[in-house]
Amino acid sequence: MARPARTLRLAPSLLSADFAHLAEAVLEAERGGADAFHLDVMDGHFVPNLTFGPALVRSVRAVTKLPLDIHLMIERPTKFAEAFAKAGGDTLVFHVEASDGVEDSVRAIRAAGAAVGAAIRPDTPFDRVASWVGRLDQVLVMSVMPGFSGQAFRPEVLPKVRAARDVVDASGSTADISIDGGITPETAVAAASHGATFFVCGNSVFTGGTVGANLGRLREAIDAGATREVR
Ligand code: DX5
Ligand code: ZN
Repeated sequence: MARPARTLRLAPSLLSADFAHLAEAVLEAERGGADAFHLDVMDGHFVPNLTFGPALVRSVRAVTKLPLDIHLMIERPTKFAEAFAKAGGDTLVFHVEASDGVEDSVRAIRAAGAAVGAAIRPDTPFDRVASWVGRLDQVLVMSVMPGFSGQAFRPEVLPKVRAARDVVDASGSTADISIDGGITPETAVAAASHGATFFVCGNSVFTGGTVGANLGRLREAIDAGATREVR
């Protein structure tokens, strides 16, 4: 029997937008076909960079109804889960490598009323999350080292995307497999063909060309990739 088509979603990463004109960037991406927005929270400890906190999430929440995917690149996700959920985050994605650990992070995010994502860096094996899949709404496979936009995609993570997809499907879960870092129309095809369903795109949406045309090319790429499954 044919497998039902998966829902594929594009989530522009606001880190690559002009922060002085963030509302315009959000609305332009929404008009261009964005399905969600990805917001990168960095604490200067877990990653060597700093970005923003719940106040900015609240401001973005006020200009769009699309889901907000909050990528917590911070050491203590349990401490901030409630604040980001209250600010309007729909999914809170913690890192399994952060100091709070998986069990406490999952519990804190659920208790805050948000959907739960678990992220793994390129050098972290999928085994670190495999047994948690049943309790997750998203597995985020990082395809660059977290910390900065505009890095090159690491193709060596593709087998991990495939492994995550297979475990999620086998468990009957509907969790997204998210891919983040260096996504372009070319790398999006590869990620989709390995089973990714949620595509975070920063520079490829907001740098060069128009946001609408950039999203259009990415959409074609993920649709094409998903029809050519690579095992
Ligand atoms: C990197 C962030 C990414 C980043 C992606 O640490 O997690 O979300 O903004 O940007 P691009 O798509 O330019 O690699
Ligand atoms: Zn991110």
